[in-house]
Amino acid sequence: MENSTHERLLIIDFGSQVTQLIARRLRELNVYCEIHPYQNVTEAFLEEFAPKAVILSGGPDSVTREGSPRAPQALFDMGIPVLGICYGQQTMMTQLGGKVVRGEGTSEFGRAYVKPEGKLALLDGWFLTEREQVWMSHGDHVSEIAPGFAVYGTSPNAPFAITADVARNFYAVQFHPEVHHTPNGLKLYENFIRIAGFSGDWTMGAYREQAIAAIKEQVGDAHVICALSGGVDSSVAAALLHEAIGDQLTCVFVDHGLLRLNEAEEVVGMFRDNMNLKVIHADESELFLGELEGVNDPETKRKIIGRLFIDVFQKYANGIEGAAFLAQGTLYPDVIESVSFSGGPSVTIKSHHNVGGLPEKMGLKLVEPLRELFKDEVRALGVELGLPKSFIGRHPFPGPGLAIRCPGEITREKLEILRKADAVYIDQIRRHGLYDEIWQAFVAILPVRTVGVMGDGRTYDFACALRAVTSVDGMTADYYPFSHEFLGETATRIINEVPGINRVTYDITSKPPGTIEWE
Ligand code: XMP
Repeated sequence: MENSTHERLLIIDFGSQVTQLIARRLRELNVYCEIHPYQNVTEAFLEEFAPKAVILSGGPDSVTREGSPRAPQALFDMGIPVLGICYGQQTMMTQLGGKVVRGEGTSEFGRAYVKPEGKLALLDGWFLTEREQVWMSHGDHVSEIAPGFAVYGTSPNAPFAITADVARNFYAVQFHPEVHHTPNGLKLYENFIRIAGFSGDWTMGAYREQAIAAIKEQVGDAHVICALSGGVDSSVAAALLHEAIGDQLTCVFVDHGLLRLNEAEEVVGMFRDNMNLKVIHADESELFLGELEGVNDPETKRKIIGRLFIDVFQKYANGIEGAAFLAQGTLYPDVIESVSFSGGPSVTIKSHHNVGGLPEKMGLKLVEPLRELFKDEVRALGVELGLPKSFIGRHPFPGPGLAIRCPGEITREKLEILRKADAVYIDQIRRHGLYDEIWQAFVAILPVRTVGVMGDGRTYDFACALRAVTSVDGMTADYYPFSHEFLGETATRIINEVPGINRVTYDITSKPPGTIEWE
């Protein structure tokens, strides 16, 4: 963000599991912020970053341990507001002359209640009743506050749950305002950024302008290629790039023959016809389905598809003259450096599963216009760029497509049945107004034929399983509790409308122990 014109807030990360939530809350409040691990935040860094305010995150260490993490002391002389949370609160107290002691019977983990003491701008709109529910997670606690600080809230095991040095705009809380279990927590952040004087200049409209200028500067006259998958990230990246550089962008949509009903036509149609993007529809289904013939093993399927995808993409990309950049839909959570206590800062960068490694191989530079955004911001940007809301809200779809929803051997017959059943199922979900409540829903066709009776005749057809889960990030998931009525109606429709299926089951496995996909 060297050329950012936005007001910036810096979050110094001490390794809490929920640091990202702080950033998300602030972004929701139209404040641009970045998370940096404490190891990287030197005095020079602070000067260059020039934050308008700083938040010190929680963390697993104990400030009573020698050599435990600290904020740069210079931070407290910059004259800017600082908010310390949990570990951040404790290091702040220690660094400013207070004391922290180890737990011993005064730990608090989980729900706790804070009572107010006096008035504080940080707490405006708080304490609507006489106590506020908060989420605590601490072993150590502050035993003596630093000079200049006063107490504004206490909990049974944290006499200094909320403290502040109002003259210097330093605020310190023992609990986590960013988590769901501190129901009014957002209010504290809202008050903090108001106190710090943020104007709320981080909006998707403003980002769009800035990102377009940055893309133009990076790319110049060169040509950019982009693997369009139909997913939200690559679609928004493509739309943004198109707005920035128009015809210098060519998208390649690799059709592996494992897509949902009408999917290729819809995606290519939208981008090519409605948005005027240059899209190559690489219909390579014969190649993929041919190579997958007779393959049963899930990992082998994935490997074949991954390898062919790269080959195909490369073949088409090689035909695009003057291509110097490859666009990727990398998001901010993929680039945040995480605090590691086993060594120096560790960098977690997840490359797109399909084109990882390609840029070096093809001698291309990367353009990643979404790397500052969280997923919900990408969706908002998509809407800002005019992509239809229904498109932006689509359920995730895996790179290997229907191959991993077709356990056992993949045949054209099975794929056709699967597509039809899936379309009926999704139609049912939409008709009942449930689509947006569900993270992901799909049908898997089982490698089993079962006996049934239809009319007066015997049937011997495939069984299928319906899957629908709720999830926040796909890492854990719960099955969706459809009503029996919905399930019954859907089963009837699938059996009536989809030749080849005569039995429908509902998958009630959560993740873990199951995964979302069947393979
Ligand atoms: P699992 O099945 O691992 O899926 O619980 C978690 C989420 O990831 C998606 N998924 C994939 N996405 N390439 C992708 O782009 C893949 O190979 C892949 N495998 C699983 C899955 O649909 C779910 O949203």
